[in-house]
Amino acid sequence: MLKIVVCVSGGGTNLQAIIDGVADGSIRNTKIAGVICNNAGAYALKRAENSGIPAFCISPKSFGSRTEFNDAFLQKLDELNPDLIVLAGFLVILPEKMIERYRDRIINIHPSLIPSFCGTGYYGLKVHEAALSRGVKVTGATVHYVDEGTDTGRIIAQKAVEVLEGDTPEILQRRVMEQAEWKILPEAIDKIAAEHE
Ligand code: GRF
Repeated sequence: MLKIVVCVSGGGTNLQAIIDGVADGSIRNTKIAGVICNNAGAYALKRAENSGIPAFCISPKSFGSRTEFNDAFLQKLDELNPDLIVLAGFLVILPEKMIERYRDRIINIHPSLIPSFCGTGYYGLKVHEAALSRGVKVTGATVHYVDEGTDTGRIIAQKAVEVLEGDTPEILQRRVMEQAEWKILPEAIDKIAAEHE
């Protein structure tokens, strides 16, 4: 059984896709041990609660220093003892110690076809704004392993999505979520779970 912890910051639609995948069996041999969120108001916390999944809000704002936040975050992760950490719209810089301790066991979903529109400053709607202003006809999403860089780890899966005439960043974001993110992230977890002893 692959034990996963999902880290979130916002609406949690990717978390919901994972919850639904575990429930309907499309994500096999996997258990969501917990959800960690850095934002008390995030709807992702409600999604976890609705599914009876232990959820923990650990926000940098409630600590006197970044080091104290990092230590608390890492302590909670170690307590949950996951085989895999899934970053699903998680907008927090990861502690170096975490990347070392969980090397090759942290994955992230990014809403573009890496290496386009990624790296520092490219997150959420900003990614789609950049794609539209560049005028690309195809964008998509990428699941990749997390290393010390920003969106630089080994690519696991990608899925292309068409950019349509009249797309706004919001419309494009929704299409990329529906047609790509919510499919390739659960599929990636299922694949890793299948390879897990
Ligand atoms: C969205 O911008 C999504 O494209 C990216 O993270 C943000 C929040 O997604 N992966 P979610 O609804 O919280 O999963």
